[in-house]
Amino acid sequence: MWKKAIEDAVQKTRANIERYGDLFPHVSDKGKYQLNPNTDWTDGFWSGMLWLCYEYTGDDAFRQAARRTVESFRQRLDNNVSLDHHDIGFLYSLSSKAQWIVEKDESARKLTLEAADALMKRWRPKSQLIQAWGPEGDPNNGGRIIIDCMMNLPLLYWAYEQTGNEKYRDVAVIHAEKSRRFLVRGDDSSYHTFYFDQETGDSLRGGTHQGYRDGSTWTRGQAWGIYGFALSYRYTGDKAYMETSKRLARYFLKRLPEDHVVYWDFDVPVNADTYRDSSASAITSAGLLELLSLLPADDGDRAYLEEGLNRSMKGLVEKYATTGEPNAEGLLNHGSYHIRGGLAPDDHVIWGDYYYLEALVRMDKGITGYWYERK
Ligand code: GLY
Repeated sequence: MWKKAIEDAVQKTRANIERYGDLFPHVSDKGKYQLNPNTDWTDGFWSGMLWLCYEYTGDDAFRQAARRTVESFRQRLDNNVSLDHHDIGFLYSLSSKAQWIVEKDESARKLTLEAADALMKRWRPKSQLIQAWGPEGDPNNGGRIIIDCMMNLPLLYWAYEQTGNEKYRDVAVIHAEKSRRFLVRGDDSSYHTFYFDQETGDSLRGGTHQGYRDGSTWTRGQAWGIYGFALSYRYTGDKAYMETSKRLARYFLKRLPEDHVVYWDFDVPVNADTYRDSSASAITSAGLLELLSLLPADDGDRAYLEEGLNRSMKGLVEKYATTGEPNAEGLLNHGSYHIRGGLAPDDHVIWGDYYYLEALVRMDKGITGYWYERK
């Protein structure tokens, strides 16, 4: 089952190289990906897919296309194009860091370290957090953290490993700890975002941007937390992060619907028209593979997490993948971006495609993504 799914995914990615040229896919509209010239927060995912396909197949066409994306990321950083946000971690982990991991290309390593410095500019010393969105001092976003940022921290942990400069690790750990304390709730659900006073750092309140309501649990946010806290555990060895990843995972898996792929929010009323978010299930699957790789062999949660992984991937492959649609551009149907904002509520989303592919190639050949150095 996995092999057929991977072959289809690789073939579609190959066809998309020509279709996209120098542009980058973001989310689809009526089945066609909207393209941009490397100006969005999502552009690293396309680069990451090309590197994964290269590693899986060894086909140089993927490598050449992946290298071209890294060149584009170099220009983006040199010209400071659309980098005033925390998603620099997604962008450069999957492009230049991937190239470094795959090819040991020194200029890619240097570029990734420059990207880590750009991410450090989002650090706000007064409130002791990495600001996700907007300019410094922004009345709404200046003191706001979001759970998605857990997946941007690996760029900083990696920069610490590479340089020995503790500032990267210290910022990442303070931010991870704040996220653990304030974004994760006592019942193992999560806030999408949390506000702090910009001057004093006092905690103010939880909220949401893309979820159903302020106190609900946005499924993709929960998924970013599962994978992100597992990675913080990998880098720091702090067991609290492993426990947090597990808690979030148990909450997620307990609420899988009959076809094993989640709706867009765990608290949204469900009827026949309720949108799914296949990308949340894809991120969770990739995150569970990471979490499982870190657990001791006799861990009491292993069987439950493995079963959840298999159910999620089976659901995606059998009912959500575009395997039977040879002309489809995306790999997964029924992703959602920002439902209340009216953006791509039921479409292909490039991060869903990336994590689905990452999970598949990891299950089949043990190829991990590009979040950390391979030993
Ligand atoms: N990180 C933005 C999102 O998940 O939509």
